[in-house]
Amino acid sequence: MQTGNIQSITVDLGKRSYPIHIGTGTIEILPDTLRSLGVKCAVAIASDDNVAPIYGERVAALVREAGVVPHICAMPGGEAHKRMAQIDRFIGEFLKAGMDRTSVVIALGGGVVGDVVGYAAASFMRGVRFIQIPTTIVAQVDSSVGGKTAVNHELAKNIIGAFHQPSAVIIDLDFLKSLPDRELRAGLAEVIKHGVIADAALFAYMEENADAILAKDLDKIEFPVRRSCEIKGAIVSEDEHEHGVRANLNYGHTFGHGIEAASNYSQFLHGEAIALGMHAAATLARDLGMVDQAFVDRQRGCIEAYGLPVAWPQMPIDRVLEAMRHDKKVRAGTMKFIVPDLMGHVVHRTDVTVDQARTALEALMGSV
Ligand code: NAD
Ligand code: GLY
Repeated sequence: MQTGNIQSITVDLGKRSYPIHIGTGTIEILPDTLRSLGVKCAVAIASDDNVAPIYGERVAALVREAGVVPHICAMPGGEAHKRMAQIDRFIGEFLKAGMDRTSVVIALGGGVVGDVVGYAAASFMRGVRFIQIPTTIVAQVDSSVGGKTAVNHELAKNIIGAFHQPSAVIIDLDFLKSLPDRELRAGLAEVIKHGVIADAALFAYMEENADAILAKDLDKIEFPVRRSCEIKGAIVSEDEHEHGVRANLNYGHTFGHGIEAASNYSQFLHGEAIALGMHAAATLARDLGMVDQAFVDRQRGCIEAYGLPVAWPQMPIDRVLEAMRHDKKVRAGTMKFIVPDLMGHVVHRTDVTVDQARTALEALMGSV
């Protein structure tokens, strides 16, 4: 297959730096990537049962081309399976594949696969290398970059995990062709997030190109995917372990994670919960006097242009607030909120009262 125009970005982390390759047909560089990593032992291609049947064999053929034996293993798809039991199962598969400390695991799938497989790779033999081949928008613009790996606990999301950076990220936009529309839209919430936190021009691009992006025009999708990787890569290079600026990426997530947990990870896709969370966070920013109503309306208009939710009328508000208290961003009982003060810029606030957070959530119930 022809490879299109491939762009490469480096996540600069000294000896642990790695490339992100973005384009169409990008998957074809996998054999070279494996050879450059000196991989000789078996490679596990860990995926889920939606993605493995579509792309597993193609990736396996490319692994064989590098002179290595592939072992495909798949978890059930979806957030509900992002649990410790799945780590145990994947590690059993790695052992069956005959992997050793020099092996490489390939995470082929969306953010759930990337987070679970990344954590399995971080744990197996105290850490083996892994390559991210993200197949959803969420994974291509966010979760495959930056080395956060995790599984959920029934009481809190992503609460068991490790920082474990990939050795390479290979983003093939062609994989988006099979992505269901609802998943596409949900992923675009994270791109809108990158615009709000770091790049007003990216936000404006998302406003102007909604129709083409939703129609999966890959020429129009390339820029927001690449720009998101540049934004996230630069933030991770500066603050890998989230002592400061990396928390900006959590815009909408304090509310969003509470919404996901309170809806048992089943009612909303991750990106949909983040869309709701961003609307609540913008409302909070308005209430704190940091932005005006026009800002809230503009962000809401963009979220709605992508068919994403800004309202949850039946929200169990106390359950959302309770889940927010279990979030790992809570320090010494204080919730941290990332709030905008202008388009393309956010600040951290740790002085938000529970009543102010409740009022912002109530706005979602009334959709104001
Ligand atoms: P997902 O991994 O559940 O994928 C969505 C669905 O699409 C799944 O059913 C999957 O099987 C299917 N799918 C994936 N790629 C496909 C393709 N190309 N064609 C057809 N079907 C395909 O969900 P997601 O939105 O990618 O990821 C959400 C997860 O990512 C959440 O658990 C979230 O916490 C995590 N996340 C992590 C980070 C991080 O920094 N580690 C950042 C953002 C999100
Ligand atoms: N998704 C937030 C982060 O990677 O820090």
